[in-house]
Amino acid sequence: MLTVTTAGELREELRRLREDARVLGGGRVGFVPTMGALHEGHLALVDEARRRADVAAMSIFVNPLQFGPSEDLSRYPRDPDGDAAKARARGVQLLFAPGVEVIYPREPLVRIDPGALAQRWEGAARPGHFAGVLTVVAKLLHLVQPDVAVFGQKDVQQATLIRAMVRDLDLPVELVIAPTVREPDGLALSSRNVYLDPDERRRARVIPAALARLEAAYAAGERRVPRLVAEANAVLALDPQLWPDYVAVADPETLEPLDLASDGAIAMIALRVGKTRLLDNAILGVSPRIVAEPPGPPA
Ligand code: PAF
Repeated sequence: MLTVTTAGELREELRRLREDARVLGGGRVGFVPTMGALHEGHLALVDEARRRADVAAMSIFVNPLQFGPSEDLSRYPRDPDGDAAKARARGVQLLFAPGVEVIYPREPLVRIDPGALAQRWEGAARPGHFAGVLTVVAKLLHLVQPDVAVFGQKDVQQATLIRAMVRDLDLPVELVIAPTVREPDGLALSSRNVYLDPDERRRARVIPAALARLEAAYAAGERRVPRLVAEANAVLALDPQLWPDYVAVADPETLEPLDLASDGAIAMIALRVGKTRLLDNAILGVSPRIVAEPPGPPA
């Protein structure tokens, strides 16, 4: 695996890797943008990129533009050596790990406007977040020019907005949204899970358990969203110290809240466990059902 830090090196190595792959009859580049602190969820995205392309490229860049002033930019987990080892072991051929001065040599004058879709849910909790995400993703896609780019379903609003950007701006890339990878007890993998202390980690299991209850009600035929949300809330209420930001069922294209659910609708939960905000979602009737039980009393 080669690690490069500048746009020039990236272009040059990609050209070489594409050429080498063409000799073998391939040449497609698959790209996984990340902010590092790699876990199995990211590595499953690499597997997907490798299935769909001949060359697997990854970026690691903690993007300051998508963090608000009171958010966790300075303490966001960073592990460059560990990340490089994991990426290499999983078959990444080219790692792009630029510094801030490479991606933002100056404060950008132009940013991507994510529009109304970014005002809700995570956008309401994190003003400016999605403008920062889309701006860096657009830059990375321009720099790497991949044939296919892979993102995770776990950040469903991000995935929806990136899909909209690629479509609305005619970006020449195939987009793949890969399923969420979970711990054995159902908790969705996230780089921010490292912030949880053992008690918070145990209590976080209530999130997949609430989604599992909502999915079970949907599978049993319930379509009224207030009833589905009430099912999830009943599980979340088992822990009075948790503060749900939202529990919702939304349209997969617009993320507008629905009154009636149907297959493909997105059930979403965001809540704070201690100081850590966690997100999870399920695609009703489509994604494999979540298997999770609410946490019992502390040991
Ligand atoms: O999901 C992430 O890790 C980031 O939001 C992304 C897409 C790499 C942009 O910084």
